[in-house]
Amino acid sequence: MTTPATETVSPISQWYDMMTRMFPDQRLTFLNYGYLAQDSDFDWINDADLEQKCSVNLIRTLLGDSDLRGKKVLEIGSGRGGNCSYLARYTGAASVTGLDFCPAHIELCNRVHALPGLSFVGGDAMALPFADNEFDVVINIESSHCYPDLNTFGAEVQRVLKQDGRFFYADTMKGDNTSALSEPDSIGVDFFSNVLAQHQAMIEHARFKVEEHRDISDGVIRAFESQDGHLKHLLRSLVEEKKQQREPLPPEVWHAFDTMFHFFDDSGIKAYKNGHLAYKFWRLQKAA
Ligand SMILES: C[S@@+](CC[C@H](N)C(=O)[O-])C[C@H]1O[C@@H](n2cnc3c(N)ncnc32)[C@H](O)[C@@H]1O
Repeated sequence: MTTPATETVSPISQWYDMMTRMFPDQRLTFLNYGYLAQDSDFDWINDADLEQKCSVNLIRTLLGDSDLRGKKVLEIGSGRGGNCSYLARYTGAASVTGLDFCPAHIELCNRVHALPGLSFVGGDAMALPFADNEFDVVINIESSHCYPDLNTFGAEVQRVLKQDGRFFYADTMKGDNTSALSEPDSIGVDFFSNVLAQHQAMIEHARFKVEEHRDISDGVIRAFESQDGHLKHLLRSLVEEKKQQREPLPPEVWHAFDTMFHFFDDSGIKAYKNGHLAYKFWRLQKAA
């Protein structure tokens, strides 16, 4: 999710911390852009997940037909726990661990997601608090754009994965179109600084085997344009509720939300359409 522009780790953490304390609502469990294919159906989804169906569909699409039954799964950058809850409820994984460096997220997850085999720990994606070869599967969705050092992150994923373990990885990055944008069209877009070559370098550096690599920008645009089930709908209603309550929040916080909604409704959609941004995923394997 787009946050105010910053170069360092801690202001991002502060932003998530503030936002999560402002919106402790347990309905908001995903913080990603979601995915809708042209022919996405939702026969498989629990009614309780419909309000965030685009996000539930993103992790389901990323996993494809992978069998996670009995596996030990780690999500790095688990946010408000939506993906971990999906993994625990839908996949038959033996255990699911969510790791995030935002204390408010860990606090919220421990309060909201009480499920067998599911746990959350605080920590940094670039210094994982786990032993070597601990997990069968690692998942990382829309978090790596916050990391100052992708190669260290990749090396850490490689270290904690078992031999032949799988790494499912998805994020937004700069696209091939490098032409200048007008000021309104750059809102939220300039926040993303990583380019494809950096992700590819991380993958090569950590010697991951690429099973599949896809650009899913089309499906992300479709999710942005959907009439329901997207993060923006839920977030907008929570922000409106907050405004009605006349909460004494600083103007820069409201400004940050206006910026975010402009990205969701306008500049973000345009940027994926015209190639200033791209949304990619990889299915990777820890090779010998
Ligand atoms: C946009 S949210 C995505 C959350 C979740 N993956 C999802 O799909 O809903 C990005 C998350 O990455 C976390 N994050 C950012 N940098 C991190 C780091 N260095 N280590 C661990 N978590 C980090 C943030 O706290 C935030 O929860």
